[in-house]
Amino acid sequence: NAHGTQTRGSLIVIEGCDRSGKTTQCSLLQENLTSSGYSVKLMKFPDRTTVIGQMINDYLACKQDVDDHAVHLLFSANRWERVSMMLKLLEQGTSLIVDRYAYSGVCYTAAKRGFDMSWCKQPDIGLPRPDTIVYLTLSSEAAAKRGNYGEERYEQTDFQKKVADNFAALTEDSWKVIDADKSIENLQAELLDICKETIKRSSDQPLYKLWT
Ligand code: TYD
Repeated sequence: NAHGTQTRGSLIVIEGCDRSGKTTQCSLLQENLTSSGYSVKLMKFPDRTTVIGQMINDYLACKQDVDDHAVHLLFSANRWERVSMMLKLLEQGTSLIVDRYAYSGVCYTAAKRGFDMSWCKQPDIGLPRPDTIVYLTLSSEAAAKRGNYGEERYEQTDFQKKVADNFAALTEDSWKVIDADKSIENLQAELLDICKETIKRSSDQPLYKLWT
């Protein structure tokens, strides 16, 4: 920039319901932005590579039962253990494309009996706030055409419906809500525009904290 100081990277979160193609789109974003000369790193939550992530993985694979409150805190802890790395990369000018974040954390746990959104938000308060949140939606008809759910915990129609309702309740005006019922190429083009615009806009903006 004009002062010769390095500009920061952007924090871009992609959320979406199951089978929205979120993960495919995130990988393509990393490829396309990198080949256009941007410094970009792809991240994914849960990050199953850490010790906490392995506990989450065993829970999701139904190999281990964990109390619903405790597992909520594990998902949150799994984000917190990555914060210092994220801040360092952002500061160095690398933008982060993040596949799921605290919003998944809130919407999935709050879909369980006895949990409300306000309780669910608490452990993630103070995480780096994304510069852009994209939410990929898919009607249940369009989702049904994409095949069956997998075998992990939460991959059932009734539960996914509650999750989608929670996302609808959590969405703020600033979110970019995009219908994922289109070709991979068209969706990618839309997302690429959003990322480039975000990187341009946020490079000299402060990074805020979540839910404060
Ligand atoms: P993910 O690894 O993204 O699986 P998939 O690619 O199959 O969507 O997420 C695994 C599950 O974990 C998914 O059902 C969403 C859920 N989840 C939570 O319950 N809380 C969280 O904080 C996160 C990040 C995900």
